[in-house]
This record gives sequence, structure tokens and C-alpha cells, in this order.
Amino acid sequence: MLPRVEFAHLPTAIDHLPRLSRSLGGPELLIKRDDQTGLALGGNKTRKLEYLLGDAISQNADMVLSTGAAQSNHCRQTAAAAARCGLDCTLVLVGPEPEAPSANYFLDLLLGAKIIWTEKRSRDLALERTFLEAGKSGASPYLIPYGGSNALGAYAYYQAYQEMLEQLNNELPDWIVFASSSGGTQAGLFLASQVFKGPQVLGISVDEPEKRLRDTVARIAGDLVGLLGLEQVINPEQIHVDSSYTGEGYGIMNERDREAIRMFAEAEGILLDPVYTGRAAGGLVDLIRRGFFEKGEKVLFWHTGGTPGLFADRYIRDI
Ligand SMILES: Cc1ncc(COP(=O)(O)O)c(C=O)c1O
Repeated sequence: MLPRVEFAHLPTAIDHLPRLSRSLGGPELLIKRDDQTGLALGGNKTRKLEYLLGDAISQNADMVLSTGAAQSNHCRQTAAAAARCGLDCTLVLVGPEPEAPSANYFLDLLLGAKIIWTEKRSRDLALERTFLEAGKSGASPYLIPYGGSNALGAYAYYQAYQEMLEQLNNELPDWIVFASSSGGTQAGLFLASQVFKGPQVLGISVDEPEKRLRDTVARIAGDLVGLLGLEQVINPEQIHVDSSYTGEGYGIMNERDREAIRMFAEAEGILLDPVYTGRAAGGLVDLIRRGFFEKGEKVLFWHTGGTPGLFADRYIRDI
């Protein structure tokens, strides 16, 4: 048994999206609400952090350290998980430092995290330096990887897939569609789909080229196979990644993202986010319109969270 701290609200709900399905004239749509995992406004990192914090505590760490963008959901949830477990938290965020804190960055501060600003190209160096300095000053730091994406984080999504199988039992969808970026979520879902022979998993890349994301997912899934002592052979060709929707790049919202955010809000009262789930939903809508899914198929959109990003100054002005 892997060490785990239980703070997620599980199982997350699965709802139908009848109005959205009808308005798109498309497949039956379901949604899995991992935006409501319960830790400081929820999101997919909550599940991963249960294992990552479990590992940190089992190693007697007294602080956690991680990194991400200025509006990182992963960092906000890491700060919350650390607070929940009584550990210190330092976040190395890629600047420039905003003039006024808002959305996720505001929440990082509220949750008591210490922030170190860096540039993208010196991010890994800044992280390493912060880790070493923490150790020298007498702390026991634990490094949580970018996006919480290693075998431990992916294991949480291997389990989440099983949670979904139990919930839907005889009414399984044909496809699961979701936002994929640092690859941990997809690695866990993909491996579980292979082991349990359930619905296929399609990651809509938020920012990564197809081959690179597929390779990352394959690597993490391979590490998870090792961690669990499974026999499964990972074949990267079977990992479905669609990188058609990365647009101008990470965090730069485009018209497709905007339309999807408005559609989910107006048709179903569901809030997506401007960076990840809006983009994945935009991809889903486009795939439906292009006839990617067959008539009569059922598609589950896995909502991975990120909703606080809606309130970042730049996006409020832009949506
Ligand atoms: C809201 C949201 N959705 C999806 C993802 C992507 O998950 P992963 O990094 O496991 O690919 C992230 C990662 O930060 C996220 O914050």
C-alpha cells in the first residue's frame, strides 16, 4: 500500500449533459466533476497530491516545493495540501510577477505559500537552488514534480479510472476526453484503460506537440507499471493525443476556447477554465462537429478543474 493522506472528496460526481448534447446534435455527453475534488476549489491535482503528500510525510519532510506558471492550479492545490498537512510550502513561479495578486496566485498567498519568482529558462535551476538552500537551513524539503506528474501522481488517476468504472457499471462511455499537459493524468487513465479494458482515453493537448506529450505519457505510464509490479507493455502508438488545439500556446485564450467556456456555462451551468478545460472542451466540440465520434457513442468529458483561473484579471477582461 502506498502512503496516502486522504483529503479528496471522492467519488466525484458524474452528471449527464443533455442540453449540450442536444445543441451539438452529437453523442451522449457525460461529465466527471474532478473540478469538485474538495481541496481549495478542487481540480485534478487533489488526487495526485494525496499520494505525493503521503510520500513526503513518510519521508519526514517538513516542507514541500514545487513549480508552475503564475496562474498554476497545481501550485495552488499544492499550497492547500501542504497547509492541510501542516507542512511549509515554497512555490517557484514563472514570472513576471503580476502587479496585483489575483485568482490562483492570490490563493497561493492566502494559503501561506512562500513565492519565488523566476524566468522560464532558469526555472529548473531556481528550483534546485531553493531545494538545496532549504536543506542547508535545516528544513527537510520534498520536491513535488511539475504538475504532480510522476508515477505516484499517475497512480491516483489509475484509481480514478476504476472509480469511474464502478460508478457507471453497465453504462460505460466509449471515450473519455480531457485536458492533458504534464501527462500524469493521462498516464494513469491510459494504463487503467489498458489493464481494465474500458473506455478509450483521448487527451487534448493544452500546449505540447503530439509526439512529445505521447512520449511523456508513455514514460510515466511505464514508471507506474514498475511501481505497481504489473506486466503491461506500454505501446506509445496506443496513446491517443490530439494536439490540434494548442493555438498560440499555453494560457493564450482563443475563440474556440471562449466559445466552449460560454457553451458549457450557458447550456449546463458548468464553469470551465481559460487554460485547460476550456481548451479541451473546445477540442471536444470541434471533434463532435467533424463527426469524429460515431452516432450512438457516449463520451465522458473529465473536468479536471482550474476554475479559479476564470478570475485572473487578464481572463476576466478577455472572456
Ligand atoms: C485544470 C487542469 N486540467 C488539466 C491539467 C493537466 O493535467 P496533467 O498535468 O496531469 O496533464 C492541469 C495541469 O496543471 C490542470 O491544472
